[in-house]
Amino acid sequence: MTTVMETIVGPRVIINSREVDYYCGTSYFCLHADQRLIEAARQAISSFGTGPGNTVDTPPMQRLRRQIAKYFRTEDAHVLASGYLSSMTLAQTLSAKFTMAFVDEKSHYSVFDGLRVTGKAIKTFAHGDPDDLRKKMATHLPSGGTPLVMSDGVFPVTGAIAPADDYARVLTRYPGGLLCIDDAHGVGTLGSNGRGTYEHFSLEGTGLYFGATFSKAFGALGGFITGTAGWISEIIRSNRIPEGASPLSMGAVGAATVGLQVLADEPELRAKLRSNVHYLRSGLSDLGIPTPNTPVPIICVHGRPGLDLGKTALRLRKEDIVVSHIGPNGYSDSPPVEVLRIAVFSDHTQDQFDRLLEKLAKLL
Ligand SMILES: Cc1ncc(COP(=O)(O)O)c(C=O)c1O
Repeated sequence: MTTVMETIVGPRVIINSREVDYYCGTSYFCLHADQRLIEAARQAISSFGTGPGNTVDTPPMQRLRRQIAKYFRTEDAHVLASGYLSSMTLAQTLSAKFTMAFVDEKSHYSVFDGLRVTGKAIKTFAHGDPDDLRKKMATHLPSGGTPLVMSDGVFPVTGAIAPADDYARVLTRYPGGLLCIDDAHGVGTLGSNGRGTYEHFSLEGTGLYFGATFSKAFGALGGFITGTAGWISEIIRSNRIPEGASPLSMGAVGAATVGLQVLADEPELRAKLRSNVHYLRSGLSDLGIPTPNTPVPIICVHGRPGLDLGKTALRLRKEDIVVSHIGPNGYSDSPPVEVLRIAVFSDHTQDQFDRLLEKLAKLL
């Protein structure tokens, strides 16, 4: 049956005329439904049009870049029409700085697409495995060459966090080595200030790059890259996307600006998300369902022989609880077995989690 969502995204939605508990998608703080973001989008559109219709800079876009720089404590930022373009842009811009790319085999499609366009040699390493990265670099990097390591920061289906600290350690053996993270799911959710995977591991310094999106924690749409003013002008100068692709629409610019501001000004939202994640992970552990103890709001339940998770998802649906059932290798980082992906929102209630846990206890 086709799923048609008939209400605004949130912890309770109406799907195909039934009100359900909703655990899918990526709107971890439900900011896509926040009236402040909606009003900001409305205002930006009524002042500047649905746009942009050109590549000229505008005051709302300037405000957004300032807001990103403030949130991430960087000098400047570059904004793109989608998060997918963030990885494409990063790989293209970095291509002048590396000899060979080493990429986590389960990285997002955008990471591979971005790297392929550079025409540089690409070697995959085992998912989340710094030892394999070290071996692959020792074996394949030409002598005197500069490596680029690329990976998702937080993987979208399993919620695994890339061991970015270990990757950075491996890279210290290679002067000029670069680490570049697609932090689509890490920004807003990881780190004490919600700055993402690097903040989670207290990683700072040169050679660290990341790109991300407003389409998840920040409640809007569009991609961005942060950094020094020099790095941002290098991006604009050195690749074709800023010239060849239209910028972000004005509504998304307005919403993203307020989304960043809300998450910066209201740390209680991140605290609520964390306590919700902890509550559900603990409840699952009590049921004997293994789940790593991380603050990532994506919880992945693996099947076991004799259990059909597709049927489990359908039975939950009959009880008006909706989780994602993803088939083997069904998305970029999916394992070769089926899984249930449960997205936790800051707006979910403990009653909802208790209901989900009670049903899962019977079904798993
Ligand atoms: C890891 C990862 N990177 C990039 C993207 C692309 O982001 P956007 O949807 O903003 O283009 C996604 C989208 O779901 C993602 O999961």
